[in-house]
Amino acid sequence: MKVLIFPDAERAVARVADTMLSLVRANPEAVLGLATGGTMEPVYRALIARAAGVSFARVTSFNLDEYVGLAPDHPQSYHAYMRHHLFDHLDTDPARLHLPLGNADSPNAEAERYDATIAAAGGVDLQLLGLGVNGHIGFNEPGSSLGSRTRTKTLTQKTRDDNARFFGADEEVPHYAITMGIATIMEAREVMLLATGPHKAQAVANTVEGPVSTFCPASMIQFHRHATVVLDEEAAAKLK
Ligand code: F6R
Repeated sequence: MKVLIFPDAERAVARVADTMLSLVRANPEAVLGLATGGTMEPVYRALIARAAGVSFARVTSFNLDEYVGLAPDHPQSYHAYMRHHLFDHLDTDPARLHLPLGNADSPNAEAERYDATIAAAGGVDLQLLGLGVNGHIGFNEPGSSLGSRTRTKTLTQKTRDDNARFFGADEEVPHYAITMGIATIMEAREVMLLATGPHKAQAVANTVEGPVSTFCPASMIQFHRHATVVLDEEAAAKLK
């Protein structure tokens, strides 16, 4: 596992955006694994700002997760997040952009279908990951099976509280999400985890230097053959 520490978030973000762009330049049919959340917003801004001359028309993408119960046009859905922050700003082909369908009749069947779609696309070339304060990746909360596939997960109260900022005061944060499993994430040919800010420092230390454990699902990337952790100095502050 490679750990890259940048003096500030801006440079860490630029490194992630550049890695994604280099991949798409080298392989216009690349399969990207995408994430949502506050950490990724500047990444997508940087990507859009640098994407001149790079076509995303044949890129395929798979997002990590979606809230159960939210339709793709719900403003707080991750479908809407991705359109707003990335997809609408590039020459993407909507047919190639995949997220779990949060309002599927059967979330469990949807999860199985999602894994099959990833496999049919030949797997993910580069999976982008954010990091939960509690060590989650995707919505694989502490206690998640390290061998898990895409499935429905209950969100912890901590994660619901952390994400309440994206919802209106009168809106309830969903209790469940469909998320790629840890094993699904580990099948990507490369994973790149980005964490910025002091509130991520403990989770970063647990991920990079802690025991590989279900108590910190992100620690599983220690076992990945091609994993890079990109940090700013604040997020790296608790590394030894
Ligand atoms: C969302 C996702 C989550 C976030 C994590 C960090 O698709 O995968 O694991 O990456 O909750 O969120 P922020 O960046 O908002 O701190």
